[in-house]
This record gives sequence, C-alpha cells and structure tokens, in this order.
Amino acid sequence: MEYKNILVEERDGVSVIRISRENKLNPLNVETLKEIKDAVSRSDSPVIITGSEKAFSAGADIRNFSGLKPETAYHFATEGHDVMDYIAGCDRIVIAAVRNYALGGGFELALACDFRIANREAKLGLTEVTLGILPGWGGTQRLKEMAGTGKALLLTSQGKMISGEEALSLGIVDFLADDPFEEAMKLARNYTGSPLKAVGMIKSLIRSRASNPYEDEKEAFGKVFETDDAREGVSAFLEKRKPVFRGR
Ligand code: COA
Repeated sequence: MEYKNILVEERDGVSVIRISRENKLNPLNVETLKEIKDAVSRSDSPVIITGSEKAFSAGADIRNFSGLKPETAYHFATEGHDVMDYIAGCDRIVIAAVRNYALGGGFELALACDFRIANREAKLGLTEVTLGILPGWGGTQRLKEMAGTGKALLLTSQGKMISGEEALSLGIVDFLADDPFEEAMKLARNYTGSPLKAVGMIKSLIRSRASNPYEDEKEAFGKVFETDDAREGVSAFLEKRKPVFRGR
C-alpha cells in the first residue's frame, strides 16, 4: 500500500509511524486510519504511533462530516472501529507518543494503543459533543475502562480537554515526558529482543474482553510452550546464561 498520510521508518528495531497530514494538526480521515492499520500489520516489532510537534491528531477530519447521513455515519464509525480494534487486538505492543493535541478521533486512536506517553501540557479529550456529535471510534468504552464511568461521562458529555498531567492522574496516560517520542523509544526498546510471542499473548490476555479469560490463560500457557523462545528462555536459565530470544 502506498502511504499518503503517514511516514513509516524502522529505528533501532522499532517501527515508527508518524501521522503526517497536510495540516499540522493531523486531522484523521479513514484513508489515514487504513494506512496506520496496514503499517502496524506489516510490522513484527514494537510500534510507536506519533504525530507532529503541534498535534498527535486534532481528531477526525471535520470536513468529512458535513454530508454524512445516518447510514454513511454508521459506516464511517465501523471503519474506524475496525482499525482501533486491530491495534488493540494485534500481538505487537503499540505505543502512542502524544505531543500537544490529541482530540476526538485522535484521542480515540491513542486510547486504542497499549500505552500513552504525553507531554505535561498536552491537551487530550473526547470533544465531539462540542460539534453536537459523539465519539464513534470506541472512545466512550475505552475512556470508561481507564478513567471509570463517572469521569468518562463527565469529560465526554462536556467535551472537556484535560492536560497530560490530569490524564496521568486519571490513569489515561501512562507516562509524562518532555519528549514523548524519545520516551516511547525507550519503552519500545524494552521489547526488542524479548520473547515477542509470549508478549503478544500477554497483551491479548490482559486486554481481553472474553467472558472466560481464565480459560484463555490456560490455553495460552499451553500454546506458549510451542514457541522456540520458551525453550530458549528455560534452557538459558538452567544453563546459567542470558537467553537469546528470536520472537518465534
Ligand atoms: N478536522 C479538520 N480540520 C481541522 C480539525 C479537524 N478535526 N482541527 C483543526 N482543523 C483545521 C482548522 O479548520 C484550521 O484550518 P484552516 O487553517 O484551513 O482554517 C487549522 O486546522 C488550524 O486550526 P485552528 O482552529 O485555527 O487552530 P488553533 O490552534 O486555534 O486551535 C484546536 C486548535 C485543536 C483547539 C482547534 O483546531 C479545534 O478545536 N479543532 C477541532 C477539535 C475537535 O473538535 N476534534 C474532534 C473532531 S471529531
């Protein structure tokens, strides 16, 4: 797939996806989301999604909303959900490095990632209600899971923006940093050379919404013993040497 809205590079074993729209506030259209999904799917290493100096993303491209009818709006939401669910469900660690604005759909994209790193002054929020609409890419549920029902309702029903610092205190952001991208690189490097199959299974279990996650854990524990890295990790311990994991 040819990318028109993102830049992708490999850096120190980490896939870096930079949203790069013609407007530095990085409004998101479905084409951009599909490019992000494609880039994540092609990576077999940890992934960082980031934006510009000015914004991770100021949300869905509002220009696309003027002609929407109920059916086309539903389709637009479905396409967004597909991408967010893919990021949340894939077996790679995906980190959002957020500088300044992450609003509306941009915030929903960050919420779908596994970790969020933001600068103290970042402005984050599901602000859709200020346009008379609502979040349609999974934001209501993901924000509720992180901040709890009351806070999520308060913030979303008033379209409030909060700072990186407030988001950290609410458990929405995982780390604050003056340079969120460099901090994300540090975090991502913890996963290079790690047993990525086991990491992927751990992500899937911890993010699971399945009705019987304990059963899934037992199955995953069985499956992990099919991997080369499990054999390597256990042998290395017994042979008193450092394991060399290959992600297989
Ligand atoms: N979609 C499309 N265009 C957007 C946009 C979005 N989500 N957010 C900003 N833009 C555009 C503006 O229309 C403006 O375009 P122009 O230069 O052609 O006039 C440009 O980006 C700069 O925005 P501006 O509002 O002038 O910048 P600002 O620094 O004064 O304010 C924001 C920044 C982010 C606070 C403000 O742009 C904003 O509130 N954006 C919408 C946020 C939102 O509601 N997102 C949820 C969408 S579902």
